[in-house]
Amino acid sequence: MRKFLTTTAMIALAVAGAGASARAADVKEVQMLHWWTSGGEAAALSVLKQDLSKEGYAWKDVPVAGGGGDAAMTALKAMVAAGNYPTASQMLGYTVLDYAQEGVMGDLTATAKKEGWDKSVPKALQKFAVYNGKWVAAPVNVHSVNWLWINKAVMEKIGGKQPKTFAELIALLDKAKAAGVVPLALGGQNWQEATMFDSIVLSTGGPEFYKKAFNDLDEDSLKSDTMKKSFDNLATIIKYVDPNFSGRDWNLATAMVIKGDALVQVMGDWAKGEFVAAKKTPGTDYLCYRFPGTEGSVIYNSDMFGMFNVPADRKAAQVALATATLSKSFQSAFNVVKGSVPSRTDVPDTAFDACGKKGIADLKAANEGGTLFGSLAQGYGAPPAIANAYKDVVSKFVHGQIKTSDEAVKQLVQAIDDAR
Ligand code: BGC
Repeated sequence: MRKFLTTTAMIALAVAGAGASARAADVKEVQMLHWWTSGGEAAALSVLKQDLSKEGYAWKDVPVAGGGGDAAMTALKAMVAAGNYPTASQMLGYTVLDYAQEGVMGDLTATAKKEGWDKSVPKALQKFAVYNGKWVAAPVNVHSVNWLWINKAVMEKIGGKQPKTFAELIALLDKAKAAGVVPLALGGQNWQEATMFDSIVLSTGGPEFYKKAFNDLDEDSLKSDTMKKSFDNLATIIKYVDPNFSGRDWNLATAMVIKGDALVQVMGDWAKGEFVAAKKTPGTDYLCYRFPGTEGSVIYNSDMFGMFNVPADRKAAQVALATATLSKSFQSAFNVVKGSVPSRTDVPDTAFDACGKKGIADLKAANEGGTLFGSLAQGYGAPPAIANAYKDVVSKFVHGQIKTSDEAVKQLVQAIDDAR
């Protein structure tokens, strides 16, 4: 008997010992899949790498280039299918919920409780980061897409002023054209075109219309004359791009504005990250205005770090990543460089430039005033299948495969119906 007890005790000790050594062998590495490959994005990401390296974590980078993240999401799908989960992956809105539903996400609720995320992260983001009452993602930032980024010297050269309506924007583009400058810097990739179209729809139809059409997917709104008019406006504005726009990456379009080769880019505020990386100052070198007719509303997306259900020895690294991501100091340092604004409401705007301060104030006002809307192009309006159908129709229209606004509306309604 005594011997038996001793043996049991020995086994117990051995098990405890194994546990202790498993903890000692925690993998001190964060494996992160993302599409932050431009200059500004890489600079922002290195803020996070540095924070984690101070805590002793190595960074295993899994970059998949391609703005908007379509290529990255294809790579992620393959990794998850193979059971090879990264510690975390950059993700947008509905994609987080899809993976959560699939049952492959981890549970960060204990960390969220400890760090007070419930109170500090806006409810609009919690809708996508919390699934069945569990935190499955850490929201890194809030971007918004309804912006104009304008080269100030070019603006002065052509004697332009802030456009307050869509018609004024077109008049401004005409002035640039007359002066021999490319008026509109755009990359002809479906996600860039659709991101711009989000703003056009908000400008054309107003906040209620945007919400009904692109967040509620209300069929009457989708097939309305207002949607047709939005496509008419897209047809008008697209005439101001240069002949080489097809396939161009978004950051190269931003570079055209930075260098003064083009007047304006309509893009999410990740474009501002490129101005920051080029050491440009708002008000001096460039101007940030809301897309005309959208002042007072914010079309947002938020980069989330979706947290996978990794093996036990990789959980500590995941918790360290999540904790660092939502710390107030990181939220300020990272978002200043990224062009976005903090994903928690209690971060001071002190370190942000004028555009960042405006972004923070606009987000707060929109959140309180009910004019904060998810970007359909950026994964916050509807699930990925619908967003992809939308991007496809917008792009076909831009590239002439769909010839009229009537046809575009018809195909949009059909494509969204098929994807529902
Ligand atoms: C992401 C941004 C990123 C941009 C361009 C967007 O979908 O939210 O963080 O900078 O794509 O790559």
